[in-house]
Parts: sequence; C-alpha cells; structure tokens
Amino acid sequence: MMSRSTAGRLVGLLLITGLISSASAARTADWKPRSIYQTMTDRFARTDGSTTSPCNTKAGLYCGGTWRGTIDHLDYIQGMGFDAVMISPIIENIEGQVSYGEAYHGYWPLNFNNLNSHFGTHQDLLDLSDALHSRGMYFMMDTVINNMAYITNGSDPATHIDYSVFTPFNNADYFHPYCNMTDWTDMAIAQKCSTGDDKVPLPDLFTEHEDVQQLLIKWANHAIKTYSIDGLRIDAAKHVNPEFLRKFSDGVDTFMTGEVLEGAVSIMEDYQSNYINSLPNYPIYFDIISAFTNGSASLLAKTVENMRVSIPDVNAMTSFSENHDKARIGSYSDDMAMAKNVLVFTMLFDGIPMIYQGQEQHLKGDGVPHNREAIWLTKYDTETELYKLIAKLNRIRNHAGYLGTDYFEDSTHTIFQGGSELAFTKGIQGRQVVMVLSTQPSTSGRYDIDMTVSYNAGTVVTDVLNCNNYTVDNKGVLRVDMDKGEPRVFFPTHYMDGSGLCGYSDTNITLAMLKTHSASTSTGTQFTSGTGVATFLLAVVTSIFVMFL
Ligand SMILES: *[C@@H]1O[C@H](CO)[C@@H](O)[C@H](O)[C@H]1NC(C)=O
Ligand SMILES: *[C@@H]1O[C@H](CO)[C@@H](O)[C@H](O)[C@H]1NC(C)=O
Ligand SMILES: *[C@@H]1O[C@H](CO)[C@@H](O)[C@H](O)[C@H]1NC(C)=O
Ligand SMILES: *[C@@H]1O[C@H](CO)[C@@H](O)[C@H](O)[C@H]1NC(C)=O
Ligand SMILES: *[C@@H]1O[C@H](CO)[C@@H](O)[C@H](O)[C@H]1NC(C)=O
Repeated sequence: MMSRSTAGRLVGLLLITGLISSASAARTADWKPRSIYQTMTDRFARTDGSTTSPCNTKAGLYCGGTWRGTIDHLDYIQGMGFDAVMISPIIENIEGQVSYGEAYHGYWPLNFNNLNSHFGTHQDLLDLSDALHSRGMYFMMDTVINNMAYITNGSDPATHIDYSVFTPFNNADYFHPYCNMTDWTDMAIAQKCSTGDDKVPLPDLFTEHEDVQQLLIKWANHAIKTYSIDGLRIDAAKHVNPEFLRKFSDGVDTFMTGEVLEGAVSIMEDYQSNYINSLPNYPIYFDIISAFTNGSASLLAKTVENMRVSIPDVNAMTSFSENHDKARIGSYSDDMAMAKNVLVFTMLFDGIPMIYQGQEQHLKGDGVPHNREAIWLTKYDTETELYKLIAKLNRIRNHAGYLGTDYFEDSTHTIFQGGSELAFTKGIQGRQVVMVLSTQPSTSGRYDIDMTVSYNAGTVVTDVLNCNNYTVDNKGVLRVDMDKGEPRVFFPTHYMDGSGLCGYSDTNITLAMLKTHSASTSTGTQFTSGTGVATFLLAVVTSIFVMFL
C-alpha cells in the first residue's frame, strides 16, 4: 500500500505543478527536472541494427544512422535514466561532398519543406515521436534558423551562390549580402556575415526581414505540431539577430535552448535577460575543461559563484561537458577518474543536463569531425563504468527533486576548495546533494579531507556512488576519504528510500513524469516502464489530480 507520506508528497507535487501559470514558464519548468541525451542521428543507430557497419569518422560522410534506428535503441538511452532525447536537424540538406565530407550532421539546410531522406520518412519521424512519448520521454529537435548552405567548393562565395535553389528562401533578398566572417567575437560581424568557409559557405538569413521571420516561425510551429516536439536547440544562436531570437522564442510555442558559444557570464546574462531563456552553459563548460583537464579548479568555483549572482536563472540553462563541436573529455586523457568527476559535476550542477552520445562509452575523439564516432561500434555496451554512473546520477537527481520540488530551482553553492578538491551543495536544507570532486588522477592515493558541510551536525549521509555511510561530526564537519581521484556524492541516509540506489527501493516515478502527466493533453502520454507499484501510483496520481480539477 502507498504510505500516507507518499500520498502527501504527490498531492504537494501536483499542487505546485498546478501553480505554474505562464505558458513559457510552464514549459521551462517542465524541462527543468529532465535530462537530455543528445544524439547525432547519422551516427547513433542504423535501421538494420548493425553494430559492425563501418563508419569512417574522419571522412565526414553519411554512415547510415536513421530515426528508425533511434526508435530501436531507446532502451539504451532510457537505461541511463534520460527522459528526453535530442535528434539532429530534420530538414533536407544539400547533397554532394567537399574535401571534408557531406551533410551527415544535418547543419547544411537546403529545403525547409522536405525532410532529410537519409534519416527516414515522415512516418518514421512520427513513430519516433510516439515511441518517446509512450515512454514518458520528451522529444527535442536541433534546429538551424541562422543560415542555409551551398557548395562552392573553393569558388568565391560572393559570386557563386545560386539562391534560387533554397526553399522557401529562394532569392538573395532573404539573405544578408555575403561577407566573410573575419572576427567571430565581434557580435555585429558574427550576426551578419557568413559562417562556414569557402568550400561550404552558409549563406546568412536576413533575420531582420519580416518575411524571413514569419516563414521561420511558421515553419517551426508547424514542425512542432506535426511531430509533437517538446523542445528545440537553436543552432548558432549567437549568429542570429538577437531581436529575432526573442521574436522566435516568443512566437514559437515551445521550450528552446540557444547556442551562444561564448565563455563570458555577462553575455549569458544579456541573452537570458533579453532574448532567450535557456542557453547551453558555455562559461561553465570552459571551466569544467580547465578544472579537470588542467587542474585549474578555482576557476570553476569562481564561475559557479559568479553565475549564481548574475544569471537570472542558471537552472533554465543546459549543462554539458561534451558535444558534437568540442573535443571529448577522453581526448584529453584516458583517466577514468577525470571522466567520472566531469560527469558528476555536469549532471548535478544547476540546469538541465545534456549528455552527448558516446560520453557514456568514454569515446576519445578530439575536435570535429573526430568527436562524431558511430555509437553502434561500441555495441551499445550497457556495462561501461560511465553508463552505470550516469544511471546513478540521474537517479539521485530525480530522487532529490521528487523529495523537494524546489531542488530544480535551488542554486549550487561552493562549500569547499582544496588543493585538488572542490565540493558543492544543491538543494533544500536537510535534503541537499553534496558532491565532492577531485582533480587528481586514478593513480593517486588515499587521504582524508575534513570539510564543513551544509548538513546539520550528526547527520548520517550515504555516498550514493560507493554506498558507504559517513557521519557529520558535532561541529558540522564531514571527513571524506579521497581515494584514486574518485568523486563522492552524498545524500542523507534517512532519505535514501525510494532512490533505487545502494539497495534502497525505487519508486520509479519522477517529478518529470508527474509533470508530464499533469500537463498531458491529447498526446496520450503513458508510462510503460513501470509495473506494479508504479502503475498503481499512477492510478492514484490520476485520481488525485482529477480531484483537483
Ligand atoms: C569538390 O572538389 C573536389 C576536388 O577538389 C571533388 O572531389 C568534389 O567532387 C567537388 N564537389 C562538388 C560538389 O563539386
Ligand atoms: C575568410 O577569411 C579567412 C581568414 O579570416 C580566410 O582564411 C578565408 O580564406 C576567407 N574566405 C573567403 C571565402 O574569402
Ligand atoms: C592550464 O594551466 C596553465 C598553468 O596553470 C595555464 O597557464 C593555462 O592557461 C591553463 N589552460 C587552460 C585551458 O585552462
Ligand atoms: C547505512 O546506514 C543505513 C541506515 O542505518 C543502513 O541500513 C545501511 O546498512 C548502512 N550502510 C552501510 C554500508 O553501512
Ligand atoms: C523500478 O525499475 C527497476 C528497473 O527498471 C525495476 O527493476 C524495479 O522493479 C522497478 N520498481 C518498481 C517498484 O516498479
């Protein structure tokens, strides 16, 4: 039977869910409890399910991944606890190849009215959307609104682009006059000149133009409706006219996170205050790299503190440490402790974690295109250390949010900085998650550090990664046994029940699922993953919810 406190909790959650009023706020709030697995469609899974089909990452050619293949590998993604999946841009891209390959990544748009047939059909995409929603997962689509693409293959782009090939932007009036990007850091130049290069220039859409604006907004709303899309990543958002970015995010009825590839906290603040309410957290990304690959840990702590005070809502941002544009963590070093510390921070810091396919397999590709390895070559191994670590981190994150809904609104604080250790706390007093991270390698030895933590004196806490208990002493000091550079993730032992970690029972109901359920309308969202208790709980949730209508 369901305990009284569980029922109370559910009612509390539903009440809070019901309080969210504005449409866009509700959408961001719906995303905050989730975590996203970023796929690159061509490199994730093939329709034939082959795990031996070769893929020459360096050649940059299509390798055969499809939406159908993605549908068939959702267990692999859900097994890590993710409840949202992002796919590559879906529209038709240019055909043909240059010295570094072809449009396998989906970032070379040609025709907004057609799908990329390399990835599948209209029906395949509908089926992918249904497959995700029937698992209670959200569907995110990567989206290019900054530019189209044209192969000039070395000829001068200023005179060799035939604009009539683009749909619907079929003449030069829809574009900024061609100019070569001479300074990527000068925002005015970055927003009107062409990204790409002289082999594949990316003609820059004239997004100040009313017609361009309306066509893009109309297209996006149509795609979202057709495929029941729950959120967008806006590619190259830094290169889009920011006023249009605001119009687009106001005019398109969904959550979106816009790629502004800049390390300055002040730029994130400007964008979040004025143009778009979610961005991939690049300032934190750069400091993660400095901290864990270069031992410059204090920078990360400094940026955490800086973001907390200057960014309107860090929790609306997406948190990542690898993506399809950046060198993988494994390319800096093989060290497993480093890979684990990076993942712990990425998943448990403020914001919506977005983990790029292959990070769980400790892939080692450095910059583009080497970081776009075909995942099927790993045989979707679910026994890797990082695969299992991500599953645990999703569990503790869900559990903390389930116990206290404001977990996803609370800001991370730095509570300790040592020579090679950092500790952070997040969550409401008494139920906070404390992570202790190390910049030491796996070959390092064992030692103790004493740190004043945010728990009350006498609290017994469990490291959810090694399952040992620790007691906070009567002065509020926790003695942490550092060993081989391993991270530690503490949670109060008496709140472990329901986490599904360290042998504790598992409720299998997350705040995100409850939110989806209460928000779900005609999409017919169901949860097929749980059995028994989960189904029972849902029935109760549904009836309680109905009572409040
Ligand atoms: C571009 O040039 C290369 C040789 O330099 C050639 O192999 C390739 O086919 C050309 N691509 C197109 C689309 O013309
Ligand atoms: C654009 O400028 C870069 C240097 O800033 C140069 O390498 C490149 O060749 C130029 N491209 C074109 C198409 O002029
Ligand atoms: C790495 O550390 C060195 C020495 O502390 C510093 O000079 C360098 O800028 C750091 N590099 C990065 C990428 O943080
Ligand atoms: C940690 O404490 C809990 C609660 O007292 C207990 O059930 C569990 O067995 C302990 N775990 C270990 C590894 O000692
Ligand atoms: C929760 O899920 C796990 C793994 O998916 C399963 O083993 C367990 O039985 C589930 N628990 C409940 C209460 O349904």
